[in-house]
Amino acid sequence: MSNYINTKIFTKENIHDAAKLIQEGEVVAFPTETVYGLGASATNKLAISKIFSAKQRPQDNPLIVHVSNTAQVDVLSHINENAKTLISKFWPGPLTIILPKKDIVPYSVTGGLETVAIRMPNHKLALEFITLSDVPIAAPSANISGRPSSTSFEHVYEDLNGRISGIIKGDTPSIGLESSVVDLTTNPPLLLRPGGISFEELKQTIPEIKLHKGSADTVKSPGMKYKHYSPRAKVILFEENSGKKIQEYASKLNEDGKIVQIIKLENNINCAQNLFKLFRDADLKGIEYILIKAINEEHIGLAIMNRVRKAASKIIN
Ligand code: TXA
Ligand code: MG
Repeated sequence: MSNYINTKIFTKENIHDAAKLIQEGEVVAFPTETVYGLGASATNKLAISKIFSAKQRPQDNPLIVHVSNTAQVDVLSHINENAKTLISKFWPGPLTIILPKKDIVPYSVTGGLETVAIRMPNHKLALEFITLSDVPIAAPSANISGRPSSTSFEHVYEDLNGRISGIIKGDTPSIGLESSVVDLTTNPPLLLRPGGISFEELKQTIPEIKLHKGSADTVKSPGMKYKHYSPRAKVILFEENSGKKIQEYASKLNEDGKIVQIIKLENNINCAQNLFKLFRDADLKGIEYILIKAINEEHIGLAIMNRVRKAASKIIN
């Protein structure tokens, strides 16, 4: 590979050195409670461009800016009442809010949009790292674009060693799926991406909130139009009422000499935490087909099924 970068590995003991790299305009991956992030100074355009090239991300897909205190929200954006309510209820936590941006946020962070996505992670090491960096940190998930998000140091290393300046090693994220993304610039507010905070919980706080049913031509969150979360194996999704078809389908593929894995979903946080790891482990084992039966889309099930639908290349009714 051209431009090989020596990737330094950090732990909580030398997190100061990782923060120094951020101040020098470099890219450092760090753990959060959702997935690992690929961070750079949110106000440094050159640093931001390094994120996009490291993960081969399309330029129009905006980044989330991570903060370690609520005062930073005022610096980055024009805050509103709904934002104040959500922040006091769910931060720090797996909730990203979208607000009108201020000039300090470069368009390269927002993919050219007038709005900015902001989140305060509920993760001690991540908060310390942002505070020590002394600047808000723009960070997409720490994976090569299109691949499953990283939920361990090993996943980050596999995708990004040699492409970024550092990786902070942490424990396994407690949630394992990305944050919920809520657009607070629209009336009614919209849940653009289901995640760690459920739609049900959000509705209890903002009753008028609606679930955005995104399609490629009604793009609200640019990230939603790209293929996502995909292992190299072909993911085939069986809808809930598809009966016994999944076993028959697996046997048929086996007869054809294909290597098949059935992943059994459950509507709980443990399943969320393991989903991306199961995808990546399947690749390591050389699995060619992953068959998955849908679960109901309530609570964390909505986020689990959102990721599975995006990873799927075929849906069977
Ligand atoms: O849990 C998470 O959110 C993780 C951790 C690292 O914080 N981050 C993450 O980032 O998932 P990323 O870049 O993989 O996903 C960000 C999502 C994308 O779907 C993007 O389109 C959307 O947020 N987004 C960012 N800024 C936006 C904006 N101004 N308007 C609409 N959508 C936005
Ligand atoms: Mg991502």
